[in-house]
Amino acid sequence: MSPSSTQNSVSRVRKAVFPVAGLGTRFLPATKTVPKEMLPIIDRPLIQYAVDEAIEAGCDTLVFVTNRYKHAVADYFDKAYELEQKLERAGKHEQLELVRNILPEGVRAIFVTQAEALGLGHAVLCAKPVIGNEPFAVILPDDVIWNRGPGALKQMTDAAAGTGASMIAVQDVPREKTGSYGIVATEEFADRQGRIRRMVEKPSPDQAPSTLAVVGRYVLTPRIFDLLEATRPGAGGEIQLTDAISALLKEETVNAFRFRGTRFDCGTHLGLIEATIRYALDHEKLSEAAQRLMQDALKELGVTELE
Ligand code: G1P
Repeated sequence: MSPSSTQNSVSRVRKAVFPVAGLGTRFLPATKTVPKEMLPIIDRPLIQYAVDEAIEAGCDTLVFVTNRYKHAVADYFDKAYELEQKLERAGKHEQLELVRNILPEGVRAIFVTQAEALGLGHAVLCAKPVIGNEPFAVILPDDVIWNRGPGALKQMTDAAAGTGASMIAVQDVPREKTGSYGIVATEEFADRQGRIRRMVEKPSPDQAPSTLAVVGRYVLTPRIFDLLEATRPGAGGEIQLTDAISALLKEETVNAFRFRGTRFDCGTHLGLIEATIRYALDHEKLSEAAQRLMQDALKELGVTELE
């Protein structure tokens, strides 16, 4: 393949894009100064869960699409000389390793600015100069996917390497919730994959072609950039990734993928609470104490029976 030709099939995915330019208004006042991607589940910020998933899937170039208010995200991935020195002097080696190993060796973080909040599609387009002509992944850090086995993106890149096609993570949602998601209509599923025939951003329940919703994991061919450049504002007046993918599936195969794992919508209060409970109950050191705390809290508040 000549270097100038676009790679229209997904082979090895080395680069992952993390759109982190949203305002996070649902979590005000916390997000007045702390970007929502830095909110923690136990001791790691949401962005770390997303980054770990990308690294596990084999990505070594992480592209963060940020805005001028998100210095905390860049600082988090930067070296913290003073803190490292202090921990070293205090002999706190375990903590020192935690601070040093946020990104493993050989993995680099690149920051791209989205000057105006024009939508998810526009955010992904901002990463074009860094991605170039390669297939790439997109992870929306709000969607945290818990799984005891391989992470969702690793499952996807493995499956996509077999077909060479673009791939989008999906899960069933109640019909009354279709207005919060991209919704796909697919052919029959085989082996967790079904070819997408139609894709609509946030349709009302009576307009939705199915109840199969897009979750924030995508593996895409770089052809998507040309299509994003031609995409006009759609739902909510924003340049939607869904609309560009709709155009892509007229040219290339795009598969929906039913991942193994539980997805928490950490862009909402309840989703973040649910994720915290799940990770605490599954935590090596905290699990037992967390169970007791939860039982005690229910007892103290007089919640004896759950409906
Ligand atoms: C975005 C996408 C939507 C997808 C959702 C998953 O919407 O536009 O298609 O279903 O993420 O979390 P947002 O939640 O940013 O409004």
